[in-house]
Amino acid sequence: MVNFDFTGQNVLITGAGGGIGGGIADVFAKAGAKVYVADWKLENAEKKAAEIKAAGGEAVPVLLDVTKKEQIDAAVDKIAADDGRIDNLVTCAGAMYNVPYMNTTEEQLRTLLDINLISVNNTCQAVLRHMIPRKQGKIVNVQSSASREGHPLCAHYAASKFGVMGLTQSIALSVAKENINVNGLCPGFIDTQLGAQQNSNLWDVLMKNWGKSKEEMMSVLVARDVPMGRLQTPEDIGNAALFLCSDYAKNITAQSLNIDGGMKLN
Ligand SMILES: NC(=O)c1ccc[n+]([C@@H]2O[C@H](COP(=O)([O-])OP(=O)(O)OC[C@H]3O[C@@H](n4cnc5c(N)ncnc54)[C@H](O)[C@@H]3O)[C@@H](O)[C@H]2O)c1
Repeated sequence: MVNFDFTGQNVLITGAGGGIGGGIADVFAKAGAKVYVADWKLENAEKKAAEIKAAGGEAVPVLLDVTKKEQIDAAVDKIAADDGRIDNLVTCAGAMYNVPYMNTTEEQLRTLLDINLISVNNTCQAVLRHMIPRKQGKIVNVQSSASREGHPLCAHYAASKFGVMGLTQSIALSVAKENINVNGLCPGFIDTQLGAQQNSNLWDVLMKNWGKSKEEMMSVLVARDVPMGRLQTPEDIGNAALFLCSDYAKNITAQSLNIDGGMKLN
């Protein structure tokens, strides 16, 4: 039967203590999935899991730093041991620097490659070890409109997110014969704390550079860049992730879907 009922399925979501990851977690929980809410900020993972449980859903907080391969392997193997399988993975943990290119450092690039790209490789591999023997599984990697086009303020972020797109396509082709779908999502503008841990949240940087309030700045950006004239929400990204993990998307793999109100056409 083809439907959006995820009862009896589980999903591991990295970065689920954050804005977009939290929205994805809510959507999967409402669809009936058991949600493993993973984040390196355990208190945020616990908060989101508690919210999901209070709303009647099933959620388990997981302490997971995606830059630590041994932590990824241990977390994934524990889920597989407890539930007998992993049905769905959404990689959403991420970080960003908004810095003019000539002021960037090699250390910043290495940080973003670790958090945004190498983590996706290691998490996909850990999960696929359990999905391949069952010949079943869905993976969604959260990419970015910066996977489509570079930007002078976030060169290293764009490099890491271009990498995630190439990796997603290559993993998808590697496991296509195993009946496993691997896709990406490219969100547009969403009001979250992305980059705050690097002291480099996009909205804070733009507010400082433009000398405008957040609301003024968002309305200028949206009017300029987004044909549909609105920001996107974490729930928009969750809905798209749920679709890509559903049977409706069983013949979609190696793709990256823009969720950006028409901003990018490629
Ligand atoms: N906000 C946007 O406009 C936007 C647009 C395009 C793509 N994205 C992508 O969406 C994803 C989520 O970002 P967000 O906007 O929700 O930001 P956010 O800062 O609210 O969430 C990111 C989450 O990742 C977690 N995280 C960071 N490093 C980690 C690590 N080493 N291990 C585990 N967790 C870690 C953070 O604790 C946080 O909970 C990111 O991959 C980001 O690149 C965001």
